[in-house]
Amino acid sequence: MSRVQNAVIGSVRTVVGWLPERWLPGGSPDPLIGRHGEVGRQLGHLDGPLKVTGAARFAAEVPLEQLCHAALVHSPVARGRIATLDTRAAEAAPGVVLVLTHRTMPRLEPVPLISITNMTAVGNSALPILQDPEIRYNGQVVALVLAETPQQADFAASLIGISYDEAPARTRFDAAKPQARTPASILVERNEEAVGDAEAALRQSAFQVDAIYTTPGHNHAAIEPHAVTAAWTGDRLVLHDATQAIAPTAAALAKLFDIRREDVRVLSPFVGGGFGAKGFWDHHVLAVAAARLVRRPVRLVLSREAVFRMVGGRSPTEQRVALAAEAGGRFTALIHTGYSVMPPYGACPEQYTLGSRALYRAQNVRFGQKHLDLDVVPNTYMRAPGEAVGSFALESAVDELAHQMGMDPIELRLRNDPEVHPLSGIPFSQRALAEAYRQGAEAFGWAARSATPRSRREGEWLLGMGCATGSFPYVRMPAGAVRIRLTRDGRASVACSAQDMGMGTATVQSQHAADRLGLPLAAVSFEMGDSDLPPAPMAGGSGQTVSIVAAVAAAATKLTGELLRLAGNASPLAGLRAGEVRLQEGGLVSLADPARRDSFDAILSRAGREDITVTESAAAPLEMFKYAMQSQSANFCDLRVSAVTGEIRITRLLGVFDVGTILNPRTAASQLRGGMIMGLGMALSEEVLFDERSGRIMNAGLADYHIPAHLDIPEIDVRWTGIPDPRSPLGARGIGEIAITGVAAAIANAVFNATGTRLRDLPLTLDKLLEEEGA
Ligand code: MOS
Repeated sequence: MSRVQNAVIGSVRTVVGWLPERWLPGGSPDPLIGRHGEVGRQLGHLDGPLKVTGAARFAAEVPLEQLCHAALVHSPVARGRIATLDTRAAEAAPGVVLVLTHRTMPRLEPVPLISITNMTAVGNSALPILQDPEIRYNGQVVALVLAETPQQADFAASLIGISYDEAPARTRFDAAKPQARTPASILVERNEEAVGDAEAALRQSAFQVDAIYTTPGHNHAAIEPHAVTAAWTGDRLVLHDATQAIAPTAAALAKLFDIRREDVRVLSPFVGGGFGAKGFWDHHVLAVAAARLVRRPVRLVLSREAVFRMVGGRSPTEQRVALAAEAGGRFTALIHTGYSVMPPYGACPEQYTLGSRALYRAQNVRFGQKHLDLDVVPNTYMRAPGEAVGSFALESAVDELAHQMGMDPIELRLRNDPEVHPLSGIPFSQRALAEAYRQGAEAFGWAARSATPRSRREGEWLLGMGCATGSFPYVRMPAGAVRIRLTRDGRASVACSAQDMGMGTATVQSQHAADRLGLPLAAVSFEMGDSDLPPAPMAGGSGQTVSIVAAVAAAATKLTGELLRLAGNASPLAGLRAGEVRLQEGGLVSLADPARRDSFDAILSRAGREDITVTESAAAPLEMFKYAMQSQSANFCDLRVSAVTGEIRITRLLGVFDVGTILNPRTAASQLRGGMIMGLGMALSEEVLFDERSGRIMNAGLADYHIPAHLDIPEIDVRWTGIPDPRSPLGARGIGEIAITGVAAAIANAVFNATGTRLRDLPLTLDKLLEEEGA
């Protein structure tokens, strides 16, 4: 993004800083904070029975008459042009309905790139989709075949003859560095920041670490590969999708295919994992275009390989972290810079330095990221984009410095724990990292750690412990509305186009709605997963829950006002204003005198109404600019390393999360544990093997791209401080992404503690360990 944006965001911060708190969201804490109701209770997923019985229908499972099935052909070259293209054999193959190539694809505009300020922009790639014979990356779709069965489509796709005129491609990370771009901003933050002279302070300090940390590309591997089923009726489109962005997808499709927004319906009631991958990719456009051409419903399910080829993952990074401290431990310099891949047609800047800006106080700092333009599928958001890999570099460096100083690494961290946001000077809304470490150290038994590396051993196994901090910002998405319908029998239905990738959206929102509306859980239902409902923001940035909670709260306020108006002069509440009553126990109750009350049934009956419906949007998320809102975690790892083979085995992981109110301990613990498992995979095995000669991913499948399996997962202890954030809806901050952050560093630090060998390159594999030890 641009310098203009930096100026705009800067002005918003300044103006919001001047405004009195009471004018802003979060200015007075949410009255539900600390109230004991449905929120905070253990509750299993309300849709759990549907999933375990197979009744939950995913995008690739919708039965439709006349359905045809798509198969894709991907380019095996990274750059060039299609020289010859022969589709005759494919067209003549059994069951084939259509062969779509750049020759036959309708002409379409590129998809606007996703943006957190534009709800209708959703694309992950601005490249043309089957519009010309140009090849822009290895894996690009060059043809689509529709047939009566998936097998016929696959077979026919294999018959398409294509030859390419290859051109030189930019596929080498190191070779691209001289032309690296320095963007003006990273998401909504200014990219390059400096306070004082960090390089000079680094040279002059008593203790310093200055190292390069590298992380490989990571690919998305959600349990459900991407899938769409597209069905046109005339100029109306229904898309059964697996998406994290229902409303933006509907808006984007309407624009792209030049139809009215109300004529597009995107349905996505269940999603088998998202993690940032389930945005808008080429398969959406291909399936919708093909279905329109053949006037039949089309199903396009990406193979696991296709997910690797045409859906981006996490960029590789090369990061420099330099840290210096005085003898007392105070940081005198913090530098975090580096390179990642972000082609100009992509949208995700892999913001690995953003976490470092909020985590420590240092006298001199310098931050900045550079982008490399390679000819690859654009990288995208992947659980805690930025912080996941940034925390590996930063928190490894802190551990290195602590070792050099002979100081406990927790102590060193806490001596540099800031009171206010280190760059902006804005106060934190809530921050209890010290408490998280205190709880964690005690529960984990940190005192048993030996500060001397390679000093604890059991037979061939070297034992080690490590810790690291994780962090992730609070995000509430702009816009987003909900509709509440309340019926005379005291039931409420809350609806918006929310997404659930498995974390329990409907469950937690039902708990919240019950408390907000003063109804029992059983009287509340939450409708979602449908673009015909009021638009919810995308599920991303760990921000969906609070974004919807804020909209429900706004709608509940509107509902209160309308009910009061409807209650009229005959009501025991006559004369009271909306701010003087609240929704409680199936009715409205006076705040000052709880004996004055009027039930929903009585109010609606007197008015001769069966129900009342309100729709409202949340206020703009200005609290994000008024306060520094950041979650943090303390991660601990206990492991052993074979002195013979270098094999690393994790014994225990423990995470203590300072993430505000926990809305449902059961679903939260599960989500946090899942994040830590993803962190474990990142630490030990996940790695895209990218052939820099061909620009091709060589391990495009789960047989070769290793995610943790059950036997890799140790005991994982998940805890939280539970301290509410007084500035956020319900006191909650997001929990989707923070749990992956800090885990890889805690593991790397434990490996150092066990072996005395420092690995700065993920994943931490035995060959690297043995090589370092041999060196
Ligand atoms: Mo997330 S990476 O914002 O789904």
